[in-house]
Amino acid sequence: MEYQDTTVLRYPLKGRIKRFAYVMIGRLLTLLGIREVSGRRLKQALKHFRDKREFEDAYRQYENNDQLTDQQIDEIIAYQTHVYSTPRGSHFGENPVEETIQGRVIPMIESILTRDPAVRSVLNIGARYAYVDHVLACRHPEIAFTCVDFSQKFIEVNRDFQRDNIRFVDGYALELLEEGEIAGDIVFFSSTATLINNLELRRYMHILAKTTRYVVFNEPIDPPMNGAVIDPSRLPLDRQVSSSDRCLIHNYRAIVEEAGFEVLHYRLFPYEGPLKMREPDMHFLHLIAHNTTAT
Ligand SMILES: C[S@@+](CC[C@H](N)C(=O)[O-])C[C@H]1O[C@@H](n2cnc3c(N)ncnc32)[C@H](O)[C@@H]1O
Repeated sequence: MEYQDTTVLRYPLKGRIKRFAYVMIGRLLTLLGIREVSGRRLKQALKHFRDKREFEDAYRQYENNDQLTDQQIDEIIAYQTHVYSTPRGSHFGENPVEETIQGRVIPMIESILTRDPAVRSVLNIGARYAYVDHVLACRHPEIAFTCVDFSQKFIEVNRDFQRDNIRFVDGYALELLEEGEIAGDIVFFSSTATLINNLELRRYMHILAKTTRYVVFNEPIDPPMNGAVIDPSRLPLDRQVSSSDRCLIHNYRAIVEEAGFEVLHYRLFPYEGPLKMREPDMHFLHLIAHNTTAT
C-alpha cells in the first residue's frame, strides 16, 4: 500500500439541499407545534429534525468531558447489547473482507507490519464484532492482537474468533490504557473515534504517545445535518462537529500531531463500497500516524 496525503470531498448539491431543507421544514413544523404529519417526506423531515435535536440535547451535556460518565457507559452497554442481538456474520460472509468498512483497516495495519518488523502487537479500541481482528490474527500468528470493548456480551459474541494470539478485554479503553492493562505497538480506531469527544480523544492520544508506535484511524466522516461541507483538516484542533448519524467530525490530523505523532498516510474520500449508505455523501478517513518519540 502506497502512503499518500489526499483529500477528495464530494458533496452533491442535491444531498446538501435535502438535509438543509429537512432541518428547516422540521424546525418550522416544530415551531408551529405540529407533531404528526402525513406524507413520507414531511415525516422524514420531522424525524430528521427531532433526531438532531434529541442528539444535540444529550450531547451538549457531555461535549466538554474528557471521559465517559458511568451513565454514558451504561447507555453504550445497553445499546451494544441490543446491537449484538442482530446477526453480523452475513455482512462479512457476503463481501470480501477488505471491501467491508471494517476490513479497510487491514491494508493499513499490514502496511505497517511490512515496513516495521519491530511491531509485535496490535490493539483495537471499540472492536465490537472482531472479525477483522480474527482475520489479521490468522494471517499474522507472530503478532499479539487485543480487542477491547464494553460488556461481557462482547466476549461472548467473539468466542468463535478466539485464537492463541488474540485477547478480548471487556472494559473502558481509556481507563485500561491509563492503568497499563492494555497496550499495542499499533493502536487503531475503526468507527470508534467518531463517537469520542474531542477532549477525550486528545487524552487518548497523549497516553498513546507514551506507549504506542503507530495510531491508525478508519473513521466515517458523516455529512452534517445542515448540509454544510466540512473538511476535517480545516477544523480547529479543539473543535468537533456533530453530524447526522450521531457521529463527530474531528481534525484527526491536528489531534495526532498535537500529541507528537507524524502523519504518514492521510486519505479522505467519498465512500464507495458494498454497503448502501443512507447518506450519499458519506466520506471516510484513513490515517496512519507514527510516534516520533518511539524508539
Ligand atoms: C460504532 S462501533 C464500531 C465497532 C467496530 N470497530 C466496527 O468498526 O464495526 C463503536 C464501538 O466502540 C465501543 N466503544 C466506544 N467507546 C469506547 C471506549 N471508550 N472503550 C471501549 N469501547 C468503546 C462501543 O461499545 C462500540 O462497540
